[in-house]
Amino acid sequence: MADNSLTNQKPAGFATRAIHHGYDPLDHQGALSAPLYLTSTFAFPSAAEGGRRFAGESQGYIYGRLGNPTVALLEGRLASLEGGEAALATASGMGAITTAMWTLLKPGDEILTDMTLYGCTFAFFRHGLAQFGIHVRHADLTDLDAVEAGFGPTTKLVYFETPANPNMRLVDIRAVADLAHARGALVMVDNTYCTPFLQRPLGLGADLVVHSATKYLGGHGDLLAGAVVGTRALVDRMRYFGLKDMTGAVLSPFDAFLVLRGLKTLEVRMERHGRSALAVARQLEAHPSVARVHYPGLETAPQHDLARRQMPGGFGGMIAFELEGGFDAGIRFMDALKLVTIAVSLGDAETLVQHPASMTHSPYTPEERAAHGIADGLVRLSIGLESVEDIAADIAEALDTAQHAPLRRTG
Ligand SMILES: Cc1ncc(COP(=O)(O)O)c(C=O)c1O
Repeated sequence: MADNSLTNQKPAGFATRAIHHGYDPLDHQGALSAPLYLTSTFAFPSAAEGGRRFAGESQGYIYGRLGNPTVALLEGRLASLEGGEAALATASGMGAITTAMWTLLKPGDEILTDMTLYGCTFAFFRHGLAQFGIHVRHADLTDLDAVEAGFGPTTKLVYFETPANPNMRLVDIRAVADLAHARGALVMVDNTYCTPFLQRPLGLGADLVVHSATKYLGGHGDLLAGAVVGTRALVDRMRYFGLKDMTGAVLSPFDAFLVLRGLKTLEVRMERHGRSALAVARQLEAHPSVARVHYPGLETAPQHDLARRQMPGGFGGMIAFELEGGFDAGIRFMDALKLVTIAVSLGDAETLVQHPASMTHSPYTPEERAAHGIADGLVRLSIGLESVEDIAADIAEALDTAQHAPLRRTG
């Protein structure tokens, strides 16, 4: 199926596009699975044609840093799933974020961003961009008055995660996009936690979506990848400037092949992640030693209404929570788990647990974590695809142990 539709009348559904978009086996000797083009460069039929390709006068592949058929198939599929005109695949989520920023910003520009960001995004903004004269202003983007007040004369971009890693804050994409566009700023949303199956920021007014495809899009914990999705004009600038000349953070065709394989099951995986996570969130909420659960699918969640509006596909597989015993109890809980694995990353088949303050969000200083809403006792769970009763039993036992056992480890 070379285009987006099964018939001329009706666009194909999400899962159909995730499996078929942009690929017809009959164009590839009947190969059901799309070929993996492992090549760094491409032969030109003539010197003149090579020159025309470099001049942009003729279509065709040139060199792997500019494009590759396996990577291009993935890019087309991601653009279709997010509802964008085009996508750029990168070597990691950080590769996508840095490529976008180096393309869009120049010294003197300002980014307005939420209080809570993934630790390395925070570090890149605070320490990387700052070195080059780009100012980053944090505001509570969950509060529209704070958004209004956050714009300065040189604000070029509003950037946020929703839900935010790790504390699950939600930002109202449409409301923030309206405010940003009234001031001529672009809006870029990190959609890693949701994937386009749960939430499509471009349809809510965002200009660009960024992903760590390492997570749910790949889905199997065996690769690193990233992507930016948006208009053809913006994505082309990122490809031919930010990626080609600035970061070189190119996705390998092999990893593109693996993400394509992951996308085929994205819909069923996200449904299962979400169902199991809701069950675990309810289990945690009902437990006497749990002080707070952050999961937007809980009816008691403060932003549940926004979640229902903005995340039509469901609430996802990520949960954050705090134990009554704070940091020490959190460490005891993690060490007591048997099935659930202590590891960073998320969106894998395996249920993972980690401690943001000492792990993924350690690029923040303790003072910065306090100011940015990342509690020291917060524990982050990525609910996997195992039998939910086994996940629940492991968590129940570890909660019990955490309440009673002495501290084994402090780190
Ligand atoms: C929300 C979010 N954005 C971006 C990244 C960076 O992605 P990568 O590790 O693929 O560079 C991560 C990684 O954990 C993340 O959680």
